[in-house]
Amino acid sequence: MTWTRKDLLDLQSLSAEEISTILDTARVFKDIGARPRKVMPALRGKTVVNLFVEPSTRTRISFELAALRLAADVINFTAEASSLRKGETLKDTARNLEALNADFIVIRHSAAGAPHFLSRVLKAHVINAGDGAHEHPTQGLLDVFTMLEEKKRIAGLRVTILGDILYSRVARSNIWALLKLGAHVTLCGPPTLVPHTFEDLGCRVTHDLETAIKDADVINLLRIQHERQRKTMFPGLGEYTSLFGINRARLKAAPPDVLIMHPGPINRGVEVDSEVADGSQSVILKQVTNGLAVRMAILYLVNGGKLPQELIETDAGRTSDAVNSQQATATAE
Ligand code: CP
Repeated sequence: MTWTRKDLLDLQSLSAEEISTILDTARVFKDIGARPRKVMPALRGKTVVNLFVEPSTRTRISFELAALRLAADVINFTAEASSLRKGETLKDTARNLEALNADFIVIRHSAAGAPHFLSRVLKAHVINAGDGAHEHPTQGLLDVFTMLEEKKRIAGLRVTILGDILYSRVARSNIWALLKLGAHVTLCGPPTLVPHTFEDLGCRVTHDLETAIKDADVINLLRIQHERQRKTMFPGLGEYTSLFGINRARLKAAPPDVLIMHPGPINRGVEVDSEVADGSQSVILKQVTNGLAVRMAILYLVNGGKLPQELIETDAGRTSDAVNSQQATATAE
């Protein structure tokens, strides 16, 4: 296939083939990242603006690092110190960034649909880094990449997503990617946060933890999204933890090789205790590492980069070595 999309806005609209192409490209970038010389000049001369209007640690830093590894210039926009605070609209802000030659706008916003809106008004590539409770496509991709790396398949994999599904953009992006690639998805949590309407997408819904995890290959834990809940959705955090929190004792109900995932940030002692979050079944930090390769793949593909096989055969080794030795020479000088 040829990559034709200017933007990455969601996973709902991507085909299984497109998702697989991103995962294959990320695999190449992960291999390049394991070399001593890690930079390739695919985005040299381009500018990536991280337009984060909501807080972030992992996504913003890994987009920044991904852009730097592709030799782009990077600008981190600070919403609190910007003219958004003086009433400037998102559209005006973004068009001003484009007037300063931004080639990529990576946007995180509390409003669902903000990236889609910008993609209609900008020529720049727009990448969704999380929009309200709608989608977080790069998180969904890095989660699936990690499952594939650890379990060697997605088709037929039994994935349980546990927690606040209703308000979770991570859950929605995981659901779209996993179902398109043939996984079985179970959703579990309090009935107010896991409505049966998700069954219409093809997921299994249960409000019983043991049923949800007893045959799971993967448990993806989600934090309670207090910032997006408009009313109290359950009696209290203590009750949530006693019914749905994952600890060592409760994990005995799951298969011994179950993979523990979490997109972060973790609320330790609420959805998961430290023994499990830091235990041998946890791949939480591997997810973060894989986010870099996935975000490099996205920036590279939307910029019109070659598809994985061609990338391996032509660019990857030669140009990354060339640019790294150029940089080493420049540093030495
Ligand atoms: N998983 C995730 O989106 O983390 P950040 O909010 O820190 O980017």
